[in-house]
Amino acid sequence: MRVLGVETSCDETAASVVEDGRRILSNVVMAQRVHGLYGGVVPELASRAHIRLVLPAVDEALRDAGLGLGQIDGLAVTEGPGLVGALLVGVSVVKAMGFALGIPFVGVDHLTSHVYANFLVDPPAEPPLVCLLVSGGHTELLLVRSRSSMESLGGTLDDAAGEAFDKVAKMLGWGYPGGPEVEAQARLGDPEAIDLPPPLPRGLDFSFSGIKTAVKYRLGGLGRGPTPEDGRNIAASFQRVVIESLVDKLFRAADETGSTGVALAGGVAANGALREAVRAKAERLGLRVSIPPMELCTDNAAIVAGAGCEKLMRGERDDLDLDAYARGR
Ligand code: KG4
Ligand code: ZN
Repeated sequence: MRVLGVETSCDETAASVVEDGRRILSNVVMAQRVHGLYGGVVPELASRAHIRLVLPAVDEALRDAGLGLGQIDGLAVTEGPGLVGALLVGVSVVKAMGFALGIPFVGVDHLTSHVYANFLVDPPAEPPLVCLLVSGGHTELLLVRSRSSMESLGGTLDDAAGEAFDKVAKMLGWGYPGGPEVEAQARLGDPEAIDLPPPLPRGLDFSFSGIKTAVKYRLGGLGRGPTPEDGRNIAASFQRVVIESLVDKLFRAADETGSTGVALAGGVAANGALREAVRAKAERLGLRVSIPPMELCTDNAAIVAGAGCEKLMRGERDDLDLDAYARGR
């Protein structure tokens, strides 16, 4: 079954064709650059850019896959959580295409899609496992029982991990999104240079606002603008504390649920230091580990097409009442 997936939940307009929930035939991501000017995603601008880019993205995904519209068997779209105005663009396009072509379509939860990245790799991850989903909007520990069934074990009480990276980058005068720049600068800095409080250890939940505030006070206490060396050391110390917290809770969750596998998902899983720390600890503990390639960690539509294909193959269908939602269900 060939499924065309469409993703418009935030600031990437993406379309992809995936076969049988396994084989990626195309994966087109059109990043919206306009938000860089504002230091964060501007919802109204995102919606307008999605309207402009969504059909070109679909055309390109079909062209890259070497397929015509008539060769698509089903459609999948991110229905939420995300920016409602942005989500509605993808949802409307997929409903219209499904209606016009007479083929089935399904809405897919964004978190389920991110986790699905682990089933698009070769060999695919094997549930049950604990997945750490870390992105600009989410920090969740999920017990993944099967490809279609997962349960939250814990999540962030305040900022998402990616949001914390972005805010610290902004404080240091770096561009948006800040995660990649924090990682690059951290590589050059001293991770022990600055004393930052460990994030509050509350069970399997996370909290990043305290450490973000500590960075703010640290910068305020300098009495001058940060030098490049200050920036590197703050980035390195911040990244160390955040990653220690993420890794510690991922493996604690695996231990508490008796899981023999761990996985990563979401944009922050593109962070090399996090990937390395998870891989090393899993190997030490003898746990299976799945870390998807970076292009499947950040927002893309292959994960939507894959997760949608899984639903369609189970016989699930949506109808023209399909709607977008802002927050998790
Ligand atoms: O999954 P994603 O593409 O979009 C959301 O659904 O949020 O994640 C984007 C987030 C941003 O906050 C970005 O700063 C962060 O992932 N990110 C990183 C890195 N690359 C992207 N954070 C830390 N290190 C990175 N290398
Ligand atoms: Zn995402």
